[in-house]
Amino acid sequence: MPLVSGKLLFEAANYYGFAVGAFNFNNMEFLKAILEAAQEEEAPVFLQTSENALRYAGIDYLAGMVKEVEKKYSIPFALHLDHGKSLDAVKLALRYGYTSVMIDLSDRPFEENLRVTREVVSLCAPLGVAVEAELGRVEAGKKEGCLLVEPLQAKEFVEQTGVDALAPAIGTAHGIFKFRGEHAVDYQRLKEVKRLTGVALVLHGASGVYEELVEEVNAYGGELTKTKGLPDEELKKAVELGINKVNTDVDLRLAWSAGLRKALNEKRKTVDPREFLREATERVKEMVKRRIRLYGSSGKASLVREGF
Ligand code: G3H
Ligand code: 13P
Ligand code: ZN
Repeated sequence: MPLVSGKLLFEAANYYGFAVGAFNFNNMEFLKAILEAAQEEEAPVFLQTSENALRYAGIDYLAGMVKEVEKKYSIPFALHLDHGKSLDAVKLALRYGYTSVMIDLSDRPFEENLRVTREVVSLCAPLGVAVEAELGRVEAGKKEGCLLVEPLQAKEFVEQTGVDALAPAIGTAHGIFKFRGEHAVDYQRLKEVKRLTGVALVLHGASGVYEELVEEVNAYGGELTKTKGLPDEELKKAVELGINKVNTDVDLRLAWSAGLRKALNEKRKTVDPREFLREATERVKEMVKRRIRLYGSSGKASLVREGF
């Protein structure tokens, strides 16, 4: 059962209390790294593409690759649209066989977010496709910009839309520059949202932005500013309190950049791209495994296969 509905992954993770890794990909190398890592960990996984990924590579290439390699793997995985911003984006994903979508109107008024999300659910539910939405606003780069979710609004939203999963803004931020000064995940708010909704919850902006990787990138010519991500311990606690899908993009980009810069630097007598890409891809694979273990989803593929 390789390509499955995101509903199965959300339901199993919510029922058994773990989080499924959701990893962004833009090309063949990342896709392969994610699938091989998940297969070796026996972990269910979300393969996700942003609208920017679709603009970069084309949805035909990205969805085409997934469908073509589907049978090589035995783990259950979903193909997910990350941060879909319109009904049209969702319809396009459905045409290409996506099994899970996010409709993200968190930057719009609550009523509009609710109305359009409800439409998306009525489009996706008959097809067995999962729907994720966002409340509050997970911004890029600075905690001050994060508009935290209101738990009572979350309850109303989930009841009125019937979404399979909700991404509540609880203090994390997208991108490599996440937090100015001290950051804090609002665990109390997370607990309250879980208690009131009972629905599968998604954590965006969850990358660890590991210091050693930033240093490695810089050691090979990068010029990244020192920055902080979400510490592993905080992430684990969030999973314990009800997070069921964790989105990671930056950590894969960092691992890739470190591997690629190192290979380019060390292998100076070749122009064969495979010599460089092999090393970068291996680093992405290692990172995916590390993150999957952190979320508690290693070995959980069988739980999805068996009953959800
Ligand atoms: O949350 C955003 C993801 O990291 C995707 O980023 O729009 O640069 O592909 P992107
Ligand atoms: P990071 O930017 O922390 O990797 O989060 C990615 C994300 O939330 C994708 O939707
Ligand atoms: Zn996100």
